Amino acid sequence: MAEVLVAYATKRGSTEEIASVIADEIGERGPRVHLRDAREVHDLLGYHAVVLGSALYNGRWQRPAVRLLRQHLAELARMRVWLFQSGPLDERVHPPTTPRAVLRLLPRIGADPPITFAGRLDAGTARGFIARKMVEHGRAGDFRDWDAIRAWAAGIADALTAVPDDRSAD
Ligand SMILES: Cc1cc2nc3c(=O)[nH]c(=O)nc-3n(C[C@H](O)[C@H](O)[C@H](O)COP(=O)(O)O)c2cc1C
Repeated sequence: MAEVLVAYATKRGSTEEIASVIADEIGERGPRVHLRDAREVHDLLGYHAVVLGSALYNGRWQRPAVRLLRQHLAELARMRVWLFQSGPLDERVHPPTTPRAVLRLLPRIGADPPITFAGRLDAGTARGFIARKMVEHGRAGDFRDWDAIRAWAAGIADALTAVPDDRSAD
């Protein structure tokens, strides 16, 4: 049975919640899933596949997620890898773009660019000058599209549980 790591890097928790839904969705379809904060991932031993996601802040991924990619390039190149990023609250302000630091690593891992999921800015817990300004400008809210997130995760589970078609061997 496939052992899948679902790792995330978050500042305010909403990316962790996305990762958790992804983990549940994959787990319900067969693979054994391990949900971990990227800061706590020290090796990839025993995993067949990795799903990694980061919150976007100022056009960048959170450091623990980039570090996970950089420190395990060779292992990741031998595994199935899916990436996601969560952020945009308003696509006019934050068009979904992938940070260059991540784009540069993709060919070395052999992974597709991350899918982008809309994020959440909680008016009650937003901290920092820019975050408060964003709240003042009416950008707070929860924009996460759970159907899109679950559909993406279901596709990963399908890819991991697909039985190879060996009819060509007949
Ligand atoms: C100061 C600040 C900067 C942000 N910068 C970006 C950004 O560059 N791109 C983006 O898509 N979202 C950006 N966002 C939105 C966050 O990524 C979004 O709130 C996300 O869901 C937060 O994830 P977290 O709760 O896991 O930390 C920013 C939010 C804040 C408060």
